[in-house]
Amino acid sequence: MDSQSAPLPAAPDALMQLTTGLWASQTLAAAEQLGLFTFLSARHGATVAEVATGTGIEERPAEILLTACAALGLLGRDGARFVNTPVAETYLVRGGQYYFGEYVRMLTEYVYPGWMRVIDAIRANAPARVTSKEQQGIFEAGTRPKIFWDGLYPLSALTARELAGAIDLRGTTSLLDVGGGNAAFAVELCRHFPGLRATVFDLPFVCEHTAEKIDEMGLSERIGVHGGDFFADPELPGGHDAILLSMILHDWDEPRNAELLAKCFRALPAGGLLVISELLVDDEKTGPLDAALMSMNMLVGTWGRNYTVAEYSDWLRKAGFEQISTVRFGAPGANGAVLARKP
Ligand SMILES: C[S@@+](CC[C@H](N)C(=O)[O-])C[C@H]1O[C@@H](n2cnc3c(N)ncnc32)[C@H](O)[C@@H]1O
Repeated sequence: MDSQSAPLPAAPDALMQLTTGLWASQTLAAAEQLGLFTFLSARHGATVAEVATGTGIEERPAEILLTACAALGLLGRDGARFVNTPVAETYLVRGGQYYFGEYVRMLTEYVYPGWMRVIDAIRANAPARVTSKEQQGIFEAGTRPKIFWDGLYPLSALTARELAGAIDLRGTTSLLDVGGGNAAFAVELCRHFPGLRATVFDLPFVCEHTAEKIDEMGLSERIGVHGGDFFADPELPGGHDAILLSMILHDWDEPRNAELLAKCFRALPAGGLLVISELLVDDEKTGPLDAALMSMNMLVGTWGRNYTVAEYSDWLRKAGFEQISTVRFGAPGANGAVLARKP
């Protein structure tokens, strides 16, 4: 049999999906930018002509976009009208509790320009977005737009809900959320555990915005903010019986993480709990896909990567922690948490 007639491996559907993944994600991004799902929700569905008029576009792109959104499972048909599916209605309508559109927008506006140069990050072993070799610079004021923190909110709130169901903080009175950003974790954990209070520790310019958000949510009695720099400051604030590190360690390399874990250890009282919430890579480093791709995302934008439970456990032991265990859950921003106690 010559090479022309030799059977090929299975039809390259998976390859095609990989190749055109951007088409799907950018269809969603465009629909979100147009406010399509919010428009359809308010009208309980609309025809192509109504969508065109209502969103200020022509009928040809309206029909193409509606068809693509339906094919992606975001819209359904009710006669001549296109309607939101439950997932679009729950997560893509502006003003909803877990409105995900900010995350979609953040990726498109802030993250994807770097992804278009992922090969540069791979070749240079440095984030595609920065030119400096200085690690700390990646979060400095002015380096990231506000949409970074706003966009992370729904991802983190949905993740925090799952974390809250997977760990027991009933005996914990005060949580320090190190690099707590927009307070999504503090808010969801305090809602879930009525006896809990929390402090969000983050860079001062981030804390200003976070304090406003906490206030808007009516939680400033139970959640405070503490502006600081977890590398430059000699110590983290004390007085908390638990510390959370959510999507922090994946931003940094191993020496930086050892420094952070040592600070967490010193800030906790005896018996204090450390919670590391992340998309954990399997110990054999073959997946899972969400963690592996988040690690690529870290390559594009940070000095870190997503680590394994074995790596975290090793660092935690070296920092002095004991009773190291892992809980598993499924969420957009984490597939589990590594827990450890200060003896
Ligand atoms: C990937 S975000 C995670 C935010 C939050 N923990 C969550 O899971 O939604 C990383 C956070 O670390 C904060 N951060 C970065 N460098 C910091 C530093 N040197 N000191 C304090 N916070 C810092 C950033 O401002 C940002 O809010």
